[in-house]
Amino acid sequence: MTRLLEVRDLRVQFRTRDGIAEAVGGVSYGVDAGRTLAVLGESGSGKSVTAQAVMGILDSPPGRITGGEVLFRGRDLLTMRAEQRRRIRGAAMAMIFQDALSALNPVITVGAQLAEMYEVHRGMSRGDAQRRAVELMDRVRIPAAGQRAGDYPHQFSGGMRQRIMIAMAMALEPDLIIADEPTTALDVTVQAQVMDLLAELRREYAMGLVLITHDLGVVADVADTIAVMYAGRIVETAPVRDLYRRPAHPYTRGLLDSVPRVDHGGGQARRGHADHGRHGGHESHGVHGAHRGGKLYAIRGAPPSPLTMPSGCPFHPRCPRAQEVCRVERPPLYEVTTDAGTDAVANTGADTESGIGSGIGSDGRTSACHFWKEELHA
Ligand SMILES: Nc1ncnc2c1ncn2[C@@H]1O[C@H](COP(=O)(O)OP(=O)(O)OP(=O)(O)O)[C@@H](O)[C@H]1O
Ligand code: SF4
Ligand SMILES: [Mg+2]
Repeated sequence: MTRLLEVRDLRVQFRTRDGIAEAVGGVSYGVDAGRTLAVLGESGSGKSVTAQAVMGILDSPPGRITGGEVLFRGRDLLTMRAEQRRRIRGAAMAMIFQDALSALNPVITVGAQLAEMYEVHRGMSRGDAQRRAVELMDRVRIPAAGQRAGDYPHQFSGGMRQRIMIAMAMALEPDLIIADEPTTALDVTVQAQVMDLLAELRREYAMGLVLITHDLGVVADVADTIAVMYAGRIVETAPVRDLYRRPAHPYTRGLLDSVPRVDHGGGQARRGHADHGRHGGHESHGVHGAHRGGKLYAIRGAPPSPLTMPSGCPFHPRCPRAQEVCRVERPPLYEVTTDAGTDAVANTGADTESGIGSGIGSDGRTSACHFWKEELHA
């Protein structure tokens, strides 16, 4: 089956005063219609730059796509004619940003901004477009939508503004939405409501959703698959439950151990879901002690800059499992198999670093760690 979106070995560089920075160093991920892929990783790991390259909104220059493919329904957006690409990106793909206030036009009422989508792209009359705009505001549960259509973006609360941005993205009923930290600026309760709305619309319209976040708590019950990014690369991909139960990369484990637990006084984990499926694995092995007195275990050190990437495994300076080989040899994206067989291990190929859609493990899992097997069974 052709995937809705498949990114293969995507590379993006920035020309900076201090040299060429490879912000995205060979990312592969994909999502099917009606499914959600969460892209997770610390600040600066390349989540947004990857999304911008996929959407065709990369800041260029200084940014430049230097390799890879972005297949939308099997066709490479990077090599098709500009006009064709624009048409697909205009109607079939939409993006939701973290900051609705700067993404919306401050001097046009929200109703008029939504109506314009229908006028320009669907050729509707002004009256029809305005009616559709109000329907859409109602659909994303803006109270008293008919009256509020005449308000400006700054007159709405953060959560309501984010709903309006979701409405803008949904207006042309795209096949794919990329949401880049859509709830980060909101408080926890509102985060949950906005995320629920997004999940509901994704189901209703059978859209593919790429959800970018650095908050594991948010993705636990909305994502199907998770791709974990570190230093411009994917380090682990897995179905969400498998990743929570048994991570196959020390960085993923570090992220999981950094998620606050509700029963330990953590306020961020969404309804405690961040923790689901992990009780057996972690508590019985005592790793859980990392949460001392409600304090969080955080991964020591800071992520590297794309200008000073460490040798070997880019995670080695921070990795509790690092060995000599890690300093020298960069781990490829290995296929991960979780069945009993230990020789079912295969290597997706050190050269391509891609794995998704081609060399992905039989359980749909990959890990860029020499010691993924030990990690999985830790
Ligand atoms: N316009 C730019 N010029 C130079 N470097 C850039 C530019 N935009 C992004 N970068 C660099 O690319 C790398 C990846 O950035 P990106 O914004 O994708 O991170 P991110 O994973 O989205 O982080 P965050 O969680 O903070 O949003 C960073 O090192 C960043 O400094
Ligand atoms: S390859 Fe080595 S340094 Fe990298 S994550 Fe695995 S154990 Fe850690
Ligand atoms: Mg970002």
